[in-house]
Amino acid sequence: MSDAPILSLEYLSTAVLLLDVDLRIVYLNPAAENLFEVGSKNLIGLNVQQVFVHTDQLACAMQQAVASNASYIEHDMILGTHAHGKLHLRCAATPLQFEQPGLMLEFHLIDRTLKLAREEQMLDQTQANRLLLRNLAHEIKNPLGGIRGAAQLLEQELEKPGLREYTQVIIQEADRLRSLMEKLLTPQSGTRHSAVNIHEVLERVRSVVLAELPEGLHIQRDYDLSLPDLIGDKEQLIQVMLNIVRNATQAMQGKGRIILRTRIARQITLIRRRHRLAILVQIIDNGPGIPAELRDKIFYPLVSGHADGHGLGLTLAQDFVSQHHGSIEFESEPGKTCFSVMLPLPN
Ligand SMILES: Nc1ncnc2c1ncn2[C@@H]1O[C@H](COP(=O)(O)OP(=O)(O)OP(=O)(O)O)[C@@H](O)[C@H]1O
Ligand SMILES: [Mg+2]
Repeated sequence: MSDAPILSLEYLSTAVLLLDVDLRIVYLNPAAENLFEVGSKNLIGLNVQQVFVHTDQLACAMQQAVASNASYIEHDMILGTHAHGKLHLRCAATPLQFEQPGLMLEFHLIDRTLKLAREEQMLDQTQANRLLLRNLAHEIKNPLGGIRGAAQLLEQELEKPGLREYTQVIIQEADRLRSLMEKLLTPQSGTRHSAVNIHEVLERVRSVVLAELPEGLHIQRDYDLSLPDLIGDKEQLIQVMLNIVRNATQAMQGKGRIILRTRIARQITLIRRRHRLAILVQIIDNGPGIPAELRDKIFYPLVSGHADGHGLGLTLAQDFVSQHHGSIEFESEPGKTCFSVMLPLPN
């Protein structure tokens, strides 16, 4: 391959690999060295399929480019590397017709783009969830007044006092549902934003959960105690962390290990806003993992893996986090589920 094209590739910000006809690497530019975190002298002469793992999509893109003798672009490629594990990339494969024919591969990292798209989707979803919950709460609240009133009238007419036990159940449950519906209808009404220490929030959650499950549950703290206070609603944040931790304890049937971790995050973009600093809270359990069929929808209202679950815990958690301009995400596999809550700090 002549030096002229190679020289101009040196300065590109796009990661470029040049391959010979046997798919051996003849050149990679500095951007590719950065992306894959490997020096070119370690790779020259090696077949791309030896260098990377999970190469099915790459192999397919190269085949398509050669077969059509034209550029082939794969917009969402997963490629495994030794330094990073899996990378999400956009890859263009182009056949080259210099004196030595070969292939040019160009890679763009799209993890950030995907993250932004996910955040946008989550924002839309939170708004849709909020609307659905409000409508639902409204529809439930109205007949509750009627049910309660009828139970009171019935109670006055009852001859056997022992039967009051039943009317009291109706009245108390109607009251409980009414207060739950009021919370859903006016989630902002009681919101009070003030300086909140995230460790006080987590310590409260820890003591509540340990009081509920004194045996078999081990809660490990891994706190960065130098974190500053954030501005938020302490009660809401306790509810967020409690809902996540309770899900973990339920999944582990009360027995297992939960790590509560706090860290600082720098220069992050959350829901289209750039923040210099944010607090990252991770809640990690060693339970069975989130069932695969639920993973895409656990933040939707009324989605639950338990017969007696309401499917509201994570919906509310997401709503409260978004009221703090933060984000909530998870990664889950059997033996490890990690919920990450990012809460921006004042700039
Ligand atoms: N750490 C976890 N490990 C395994 N599964 C989980 C975990 N966290 C959440 N899930 C799954 O996600 C589902 C939805 O959780 P969510 O808190 O929204 O509702 P719920 O716990 O079913 O009901 P509730 O409204 O009472 O909280 C759970 O039912 C469970 O199947
Ligand atoms: Mg729950």
